[in-house]
Amino acid sequence: MKGNPITEELFQYIVDTFAQEDDLLKRMPAEAEAKGIPLIHISPEQGKFLQVMMAATGGRKVLEVGSLFGYSTLWMARALPADGKLISLELNPLHADTTRHNIAQAGLAHRVEVHQGDARALLPKLAHEAPFDLAFIDAEKAQYVDYLDQVIDLMRPGGMIIGDNASANGGVWQTKPPADQRAYVAAIRAFNERMAADPRLVSLLVPISDGMNVAVVRGN
Ligand code: DHB
Ligand code: MG
Repeated sequence: MKGNPITEELFQYIVDTFAQEDDLLKRMPAEAEAKGIPLIHISPEQGKFLQVMMAATGGRKVLEVGSLFGYSTLWMARALPADGKLISLELNPLHADTTRHNIAQAGLAHRVEVHQGDARALLPKLAHEAPFDLAFIDAEKAQYVDYLDQVIDLMRPGGMIIGDNASANGGVWQTKPPADQRAYVAAIRAFNERMAADPRLVSLLVPISDGMNVAVVRGN
């Protein structure tokens, strides 16, 4: 492997130094779990990564596809400027309500809208909110390519599109992923290949947690 291999100690240093959770972020997963919501949220260092990418793009207008219980939503909402706005799309009504509750607890309800429904139906209705500076896709993997097709049209040149789980639990490189992972891996590979090949994007799979595929929308 090129570069320093990540060790437990190096990883802990990075999280401790750059990505500390406050009490609200710390307590959100347990409250979500008590409601039966799966704990498949991003990690603290991914939350900080999203904040850095927001700062790099200007990050005033942000779109999220898949709120879950609002963990990534809150990391991003906290990086918005005073006149910023985040719109988060969530299919599951319980997940959408929990996200609204958590964002309200953080005192950020005035900057965040959670729209409940299928993102494929909601995205065409967001044309009047465009252009977005950053979009974070972390919802149904089988639909990632569909989300991408719709999201690209809503982005500002120079904006960023980031897709979570781009490593598919490490399955993306395997010639024979486990049978129960095959559909998931195929969906993520299709997304990665589109992100890599689309002439409107310049992208890279960044190996943070389960992988984030980061694309900048070209200005020409
Ligand atoms: C799953 C989905 C996610 O977005 C994630 O970060 C982890 C797991 C899943 O569907 O299993
Ligand atoms: Mg994810």
